[in-house]
Amino acid sequence: MALENQVSFRKRGMFHVAKLRKKNEKRFMKKVLFGIIGIGNMGSSHFQRLCGLPEAEVVALCDCDPSAFERLGAAREQVTCFTDCDRFLAEGGMDAVLVATPHYFHPELGIKALAAGKHLLVEKPIAVHKKDAERLLEASRQHPELKKSLMLNQRTLPAHRKIKEMIDSGQLGNLRRISWTITDWFRTQTYYDSGDWRASWRGEGGGVLLNQCPHQLDLMQWFFGLPNRVRASASFGKFHDIEVEDEVNAFLEYPNGLTGNFIASTGEAPGINRLEIAADRGLMVFEKGILTFWRNEELTSEFIKNSKTSFHKPCCWQCNIPIAETEEAQHTAICKNFIAAIVDNADLIAPLEEGIRGLELGNAMLLSAWRNETVQLPIDTEDFEERLNRLVATSRYRKNLKTADNSNFNQSF
Ligand SMILES: NC(=O)c1ccc[n+]([C@@H]2O[C@H](COP(=O)([O-])OP(=O)(O)OC[C@H]3O[C@@H](n4cnc5c(N)ncnc54)[C@H](O)[C@@H]3O)[C@@H](O)[C@H]2O)c1
Repeated sequence: MALENQVSFRKRGMFHVAKLRKKNEKRFMKKVLFGIIGIGNMGSSHFQRLCGLPEAEVVALCDCDPSAFERLGAAREQVTCFTDCDRFLAEGGMDAVLVATPHYFHPELGIKALAAGKHLLVEKPIAVHKKDAERLLEASRQHPELKKSLMLNQRTLPAHRKIKEMIDSGQLGNLRRISWTITDWFRTQTYYDSGDWRASWRGEGGGVLLNQCPHQLDLMQWFFGLPNRVRASASFGKFHDIEVEDEVNAFLEYPNGLTGNFIASTGEAPGINRLEIAADRGLMVFEKGILTFWRNEELTSEFIKNSKTSFHKPCCWQCNIPIAETEEAQHTAICKNFIAAIVDNADLIAPLEEGIRGLELGNAMLLSAWRNETVQLPIDTEDFEERLNRLVATSRYRKNLKTADNSNFNQSF
């Protein structure tokens, strides 16, 4: 290359680098301003988290209980605190709202935030029941210009991403049977007593399926799709003095012939978290953070047809699947992804509309247990809401919170 060309190339290269740096700085400087509703366990930890991100700034907080702000100590001085949601939305000056209240309020507050033109990040579950989630998603469709995400933080775990990648890329072959036993969500009575809304039909609207398991129910549908038939039994207040379910046993049937079991409990210790995926190419098990694939040399379906022996199984390798390490999984990853979607139009890891699928799966289990029969998906949302409302009406939790029929949103707190 001639000298003058080299110089001009170098100059052009430097100009390009300078331009890139400027663009990055500009991008870095564009902070997303957040408001958080519900400053309890999760809301306060999201506050700390967002305060630690250079691309975010928390400018306003809202809680119906003014004493909730005290848990933030001196940090609360940096932000404006509201006890009235409408004023919070009108005067808070935020770009985005994170909803971290008890579940019944998620749709109602989400709808208000969207109507006020705010990007929306909602804690899981999206709602207590499918019909309520549909109301939020209807409002969401009216605002295509806004980003809406759900705190399904377990989607970001490298092991879960690996499982999904292996299923989607066909490495397991056709799936035959799945089983997820998730009984290590152990909770004591003190936990249930820690919030008066917890574990009552009126205050929370469900138990282990709604509070602890939304992550697994979402991962189930993310990995395997939704079943078309569900048969479940549930025990209500079996291990704790609570109204809602603390043990569930479900059998799932999928349109492609796959069958599944889902077992959950908050009353078992030490409990277990074990996912089994039996597929044509072998067996994959995820337990205690270790992902193992017993990979058959020959497809099971072929071996069944072709083997001349009666009892031999296909030879298999035991493969320990490597799981990438990551510094930024879980809630931080979801927050950063939500910000990147707002600033750079990044694809969302957990779009809000996907939250209705895991919710329907949990609702189907409860509906089947209530009816004592197999239920079809899509579920009868009217029936579910009616049954839930009957339980809400007799719930021992009497505080004037929102009822399941969505008619009694009380802002006077
Ligand atoms: N993603 C996760 O890993 C994870 C973990 C725990 C909880 N959560 C979810 O976070 C949500 C909150 O749970 P938590 O444990 O923080 O509850 P919490 O009881 O500790 O806090 C809830 C807060 O919301 C306030 N609040 C109630 N109704 C309100 C309203 N209408 N407007 C404004 N404030 C209101 C309460 O005063 C309280 O301060 C739940 O939906 C739960 O499922 C998610």
